[in-house]
Amino acid sequence: MSYERVSDANVITEKYMDSILFEERLIDSAVADTSIEFLGELFDSPIMTPAFSHLGQFGGREKTGLEEYSIAAKELNILNFCGMMENDGFKKLADTGAKTVRIVKPYADNAKVRDQMQYAESVGAFGIGMDIDHIFGENGLDVVVGELMAQQTSDMLRSYVEMTNLPFVVKGVLSVADAVKCADIGAKAIIVSHHHGRLPYAVPPMMILPEIKEALKGKDVKIIVDCGIASGADVFKALALGADACAVGRSMMPALEMDGVEGVKNFITKVNNELRYIMSFTGSSDTKSIDPSVLHFTEKRF
Ligand SMILES: Cc1cc2nc3c(=O)[nH]c(=O)nc-3n(C[C@H](O)[C@H](O)[C@H](O)COP(=O)(O)O)c2cc1C
Repeated sequence: MSYERVSDANVITEKYMDSILFEERLIDSAVADTSIEFLGELFDSPIMTPAFSHLGQFGGREKTGLEEYSIAAKELNILNFCGMMENDGFKKLADTGAKTVRIVKPYADNAKVRDQMQYAESVGAFGIGMDIDHIFGENGLDVVVGELMAQQTSDMLRSYVEMTNLPFVVKGVLSVADAVKCADIGAKAIIVSHHHGRLPYAVPPMMILPEIKEALKGKDVKIIVDCGIASGADVFKALALGADACAVGRSMMPALEMDGVEGVKNFITKVNNELRYIMSFTGSSDTKSIDPSVLHFTEKRF
């Protein structure tokens, strides 16, 4: 081998994001507004919390990391997400008052999937969804914390959509093929993601985003991007390439572990301030008027 091979999608994704540059559009510009309308609600920022799970209490504090970041999401008026957990855990997050989307695992036990979705709706979730990219493991179907997962068909996903009055979010879309299926089954939003690199050589979400955006043109499906989102520049690039919103991920962890609610609030505020700064510099007065032609690509686009 004459060069170092990199199969880690996290590394490939960061490298791709860092290859995108901005031009400035200053004349007639103004301080930008970062608020968004998303699925019928107004939020102060397009930055969302990640669908995390299995976070205990940090620093001897009383609340779990999941509760802490949910409180921060409420106080920041941003959309909140959570991942794998039992119903009592979700109840605690719902009780924070944060507008929360519960991402349910693709459990092989389909009754459990339905129960968790119905429970979320009954205690006031903002939305429900599923991470369809956590199905396969090294030996076939994945086992997550002792629970067997199962592949999901279009009919199964459609049945969840029909079961609920809440918006349904499919997390883990990384192709035009899946994005179109999500639109067909009636999903209201997708999260373009490789779930922090589950698939080696996974295409960076932002690299495939424009194709997905084009395929969903005229359809009523919001697009969220995650994986490697750590700065306002990352969020700006995603919005310019067609996303409606972005979720931070592990980039939020140090602030959460160290300072809990205040740490997350400070971190997201910092990322949002960076976003506003770049929007202002590029003549993007609000999140709907970001012109993709302000981006310059130093690497070949597919
Ligand atoms: C501790 C931890 C727990 C996670 N749990 C879930 C989960 O239960 N469901 C889910 O859909 N994604 C889960 N994720 C994935 C995140 O939602 C997100 O897709 C991923 O972290 C994005 O990549 P990034 O961390 O590089 O930003 C988890 C990630 C971490 C780090």
